[in-house]
Amino acid sequence: MRTELCERLGIEFPIFAFTHCRDVVAAVSNAGGIGVLGAVGFTAEQLAIEMKWIDEHTDKPYGIDIVIPGKYEGKGEDLDAAELEGKLRAMIPQGHRDFARKLLADAGVPELPEGQKPRELLGWTAATAGPLVEQALTSQKVKLVANALGTPPADVIREIQDSGRLVGALCGSVKHALAHQAAGCDFVVAQGTEGGGHTGEIGSVVLWPQVIDAVAPMPVLAAGGIGNGRQMAAALAMGAQGVWTGSLWLAVEEAAAEPAEKQTYLDATSHDTVRSRSWTGKPARMLRNDWTEAWERPDAPKPLGMPLQFMVTAEAVARTHRYADKARRVAFNPVGQIVGEIKAVEPCRDVIYRMVEEYLDAVEHLNGLQPQD
Ligand SMILES: Cc1cc2nc3c(=O)[nH]c(=O)nc-3n(C[C@H](O)[C@H](O)[C@H](O)COP(=O)(O)O)c2cc1C
Repeated sequence: MRTELCERLGIEFPIFAFTHCRDVVAAVSNAGGIGVLGAVGFTAEQLAIEMKWIDEHTDKPYGIDIVIPGKYEGKGEDLDAAELEGKLRAMIPQGHRDFARKLLADAGVPELPEGQKPRELLGWTAATAGPLVEQALTSQKVKLVANALGTPPADVIREIQDSGRLVGALCGSVKHALAHQAAGCDFVVAQGTEGGGHTGEIGSVVLWPQVIDAVAPMPVLAAGGIGNGRQMAAALAMGAQGVWTGSLWLAVEEAAAEPAEKQTYLDATSHDTVRSRSWTGKPARMLRNDWTEAWERPDAPKPLGMPLQFMVTAEAVARTHRYADKARRVAFNPVGQIVGEIKAVEPCRDVIYRMVEEYLDAVEHLNGLQPQD
């Protein structure tokens, strides 16, 4: 199951694991896949600490994921991160902040301790992502950088490629895949609507072959709804050079989530997700709960654009994460429909090996369908 992209990256299995957790990155890479650390929530200084830890815990390649959206409030303004944040903050109606605070208060989620105010403007603007890219390129083990929500700017693509690394971007449509290709990306990740986090409207089985055909011979990674080796076999059969997974790693042993958060994922079925703009301002798939329902009510404020809506909800993310056991009905739980198949807390290595075995069984099954004489 070695693909050309695996060869270029020096990995054994074509399994890419998106995660916010450094332990998962190292564990997946050590097991023969490749961990990709989502950096959007870190400052460059925090990312440096995470990367140092990963560098100390694996000798294998890994990746870094950034988020420079194609469209966001404040895009194109020549402001540094602090100026941009000030300008954006002034654009937020107080009613949005009051609505979010009331939802948490009604659900009984405690306030954060004094002095623990979370960052509101994350790395999802060009101004805030730039330092993350610089930091990503400091480790020799970082072999790829991926960008979500848009085509990376030309200078970012050049900087990553000039350093000898591969750069790719996620997409939910053929149009976006073609834009990534035209900009000179090395690969695209085609994510079907069933995937967790920001996601489009087209299902994986329809989207993957469309994107593969449209950008051929550019390598395509299949994402959205992959949780087992049969799905991996299907993706590779369609021409994908690997699978890019996210939800699968939220409840693994190495994931640094509160036990209550992991339990929420274990309890969920594939019916329990919804695409909602209520946390980040762009449609993202997550578990449906009292929070997502409240923002759909006719009297609710309309979610703001990115990155304004998250500036409203950053405090809620921090509070519901910290007090996960008291916040299960209003927490931010981005996850895809494959959550319905996550039924146990397993180590990453077991997940990877299980997928490889299931893949081999699926290929054997297909071969068995051939006439024998
Ligand atoms: C909790 C969570 C957060 C995510 N955040 C990001 C992100 O910051 N950047 C990104 O490129 N993709 C992000 N994604 C999407 C994943 O990279 C991946 O494409 C997606 O999870 C694949 O679908 P699956 O969840 O069905 O495996 C996120 C996914 C999840 C579940």
